[in-house]
Amino acid sequence: MRNVHVHRHPGRSLRPASLRAAALAAVAMTAVVLGGCSSSPGSSNATSSSAATVAAPGTANSGNITWWASPITSSGADPRTVLVTAFEKAYPDIKVKLISAPTDTDTNRATLTTQISGGAGPDVYMGDVIWPAQFAAHQLADPLSKYLPASYFGTFAPGLVAGATYKGQVYGAPFFEDQGFLYYRKDLLAKNNMKVPTTWEELMTDSRTIQSKGEAQYGYVFQGASYEGATCNFMEFLTDAGGAVLNKDSTSSAVNSAAALKALKFEQELVTSGVSPKAESTYQELQSMNEFSAGKSVFLRNWDYGYSTSQAAGSAVVGKVGVAPMPTFGGESTPGYSNIGGWNLYVNPHSQNVAADLTFIKWMTGNDAQKILATQFSEIPTNQAVRTSADVIKSNAVLAVVPQTKLVPRPAQTPFYPQVSTAIYTNVSAVLAGSKTPATALKDADSAINSALSGGGL
Ligand code: GLC
Repeated sequence: MRNVHVHRHPGRSLRPASLRAAALAAVAMTAVVLGGCSSSPGSSNATSSSAATVAAPGTANSGNITWWASPITSSGADPRTVLVTAFEKAYPDIKVKLISAPTDTDTNRATLTTQISGGAGPDVYMGDVIWPAQFAAHQLADPLSKYLPASYFGTFAPGLVAGATYKGQVYGAPFFEDQGFLYYRKDLLAKNNMKVPTTWEELMTDSRTIQSKGEAQYGYVFQGASYEGATCNFMEFLTDAGGAVLNKDSTSSAVNSAAALKALKFEQELVTSGVSPKAESTYQELQSMNEFSAGKSVFLRNWDYGYSTSQAAGSAVVGKVGVAPMPTFGGESTPGYSNIGGWNLYVNPHSQNVAADLTFIKWMTGNDAQKILATQFSEIPTNQAVRTSADVIKSNAVLAVVPQTKLVPRPAQTPFYPQVSTAIYTNVSAVLAGSKTPATALKDADSAINSALSGGGL
């Protein structure tokens, strides 16, 4: 299997073999954990399902389709309209109506599931990489492998298609990949003779030094609100500390552990020490991004687009931002873990023009669209040819760091994942808000996860 996370980027040394092995393991784990399926249609072997494709209903080169997508970035040009305009130029007889979806992935999913279960909804929707199991189990997405051949799925970076697969069928076309990154203020670190922190402890100490000199109000801004993003951030602290959410065969919770306690106590200390804002328990991506772009924080945890957004017009930190892999706890092997996120394109089972939907999806995952996403919006492309192109890597500060990242997926292989994640983020956020102790929060999360896995959460 090719390892997509190892780019032969000119002028960069290759990552150490141990890191490569860890990344490979993480990709393999994503395949199993995200997709719940160990055979990847993205690999060279065709799956049995994609071998027997059927013709998609409708007309491939004309018609009107609706596209449901949340804003991909939070300032600067809107990638969705840039892409739709370019698509309509390539296919003048297909008109795409963009429907702006809610930014919060949970609200987005809830709105969409209500519409689709009611027999309505958009033709194509941009949906989270954590949705396939739930959406497949509830017939909320049309399996794309019904219509598209294995050669199409072979154009993606390894691991991604497996993540969009449930019980042998591929439900989503990988559109862009997200990973957690550490953004830092180059100017402030240089002024203080500090290197980019590789441990959480170092990040805490450096933050306090810089804050005490009045050079920044906050040290670290991240996502701690009671929503999916808090699960992503917790996954990183938890895995750094050596813990996991579920046991090995994903049958029960493993979250009430010493490692999880260490992780959550650290998150709590970020807030109680003032390194992170008092209001961290209300921060989604937008709030943390805004603080950082306003020059108020030394460090930010955010996804790929954080780089281009920090450099967009109106930002106070243009030219002052660096990007690095996440830190880990002292004594652990560096770097820390980055959670895998990202978005796929799905087809609504009620769509009347699946052929045009597929034309749109193929274009969006092809060279032109993927290049736009990667070079203009610092997204990680899913298309392997674009992702490994030296020109693209050169123009995307985030992509250049990808070879060093160590990935951890969320345990989204179960249709009960929304309940599992709710158990995590409500409790983590309660700790950040000061309304629960870390020990109580983990006990509560543990029993809520076990009840979700037994079907009690539905
Ligand atoms: C990003 C990720 C997505 C994640 C969400 C959480 O959009 O791509 O996977 O669920 O953030 O806020």
